[in-house]
Amino acid sequence: MKIGIIGGTGFYEAEGDEIEVETRYGKVAAFHFVRGGRDVFFIPRHGRKHIPAHMVNYHANVEAMYLMGVEAIIGINTVGSMRKDINVGSIFIPDDFIDLSGRKSTFFDDQAIHIDMSQPFCPVVRKTLLEEAKDAKEGVYVVTNGPRLETKAEIEMMRNFGHVVGMTLSPEVILAREKGICYASICIVSNHAAGMQESLDIEEIKRVHATRKEDLISIVDRCVERIPEHRGCRCRYAPEKGKL
Ligand code: HPA
Repeated sequence: MKIGIIGGTGFYEAEGDEIEVETRYGKVAAFHFVRGGRDVFFIPRHGRKHIPAHMVNYHANVEAMYLMGVEAIIGINTVGSMRKDINVGSIFIPDDFIDLSGRKSTFFDDQAIHIDMSQPFCPVVRKTLLEEAKDAKEGVYVVTNGPRLETKAEIEMMRNFGHVVGMTLSPEVILAREKGICYASICIVSNHAAGMQESLDIEEIKRVHATRKEDLISIVDRCVERIPEHRGCRCRYAPEKGKL
């Protein structure tokens, strides 16, 4: 099975051979390497010039994974914690999400496809991440559009229904399901959300992210080797089952 990783710029670039994938949504830069005998494709989510979260070409990134024959994607995301017991620097593995981004989140504009999102993450890939990350917290990831960070009042509201907030999980997770690709996310908690710490400084967010990068890479590496070769989940049938 070919595995895809979509993560922040600077994650796996040094490792692989750089390739360019042509999709109907535009060109995508990807890196190919072999891990545990497996073909792995890394796509820096923000491209090479750090496209901001609200401008990322999510459709092109997921389409590129599909065209390369990837069957399971691990998404690496950075989030803010909305809960006191989810610490800065910890690892969070979402089990659900709420999308407040308002972004276009389908490949299907001329067909009625209603994929099932009652279990948005692949249970097999997610379980592998949980086992390797050991003491990761789980919960709901609220997706905002950004690029600005949230207001205190927004966080007060979102805390009622979510645990962490970030800008990059959706529509990636939805588009992967539409392509029948397994998808699960592992997040680095880089800060407490607005109103929970004195001020939010993007340099500080980047610094926390950098300190956890190596750990995260080793967790993801171990998962890449452990994801079962044969898919026992139902993710791949989603587009067929979702047809009206
Ligand atoms: N809000 C939104 N996105 C984020 C945050 C945050 O506090 N931290 C990292 N990504």
